[in-house]
Amino acid sequence: CCTMALSDAEVQTARDVWGQIYANAEENGTIILVRMFTEHPDTKSYFGNFKGMGSAAEMEQSAQVRTHGKKIFSALNDMIQHLDSTDALLGVVNPLGKKHATQLKVDPKNFKIICNILLQVLDEKFGGDARAGFEKVTDVLCTHLNHAYKEAGW
Ligand code: HEM
Repeated sequence: CCTMALSDAEVQTARDVWGQIYANAEENGTIILVRMFTEHPDTKSYFGNFKGMGSAAEMEQSAQVRTHGKKIFSALNDMIQHLDSTDALLGVVNPLGKKHATQLKVDPKNFKIICNILLQVLDEKFGGDARAGFEKVTDVLCTHLNHAYKEAGW
């Protein structure tokens, strides 16, 4: 895995980009979650509480969706704080990956989907440079998550 670690400069750039989107964690986490549910409606089936929700507007206003949007962003923030140490990063990513694999049984292809939506939103809100400065992070996270899934016997 470790050949793909980020350089110090890449970590700094990624943190600057992340700081911009994390400044509105609940709002932006919710936007990303709702876009995943809208563009890939099958992803709603993992969330017992969200299944029945129809329109994007309805989802955006749901307290449960908003709380979950914020939760995802908090977990990502935790990872971004540990980008400079693979061991520390794995300490955050591995338990989360294991939980999604064994308990929640989320198909790992959905991580790629949500990461791509995150990159799309970075591009829309902060421009192509912001997107480019974060692409390696989503690659690293997806690689580690896929590894955690393999370890969990997915
Ligand atoms: C960036 C990627 C993701 C992050 C950082 C993330 C983070 C989290 C966190 C922190 C929790 C709460 C865990 C706990 O309570 O112990 C959670 C729960 C959950 N996640 Fe994810 N997640 C991600 C992607 C996904 C995807 C792609 C799906 C499905 C399409 C998904 C489905 C779920 C479900 C169903 C729960 C349980 C919700 C509940 O009933 O409380 N997650 N996730």
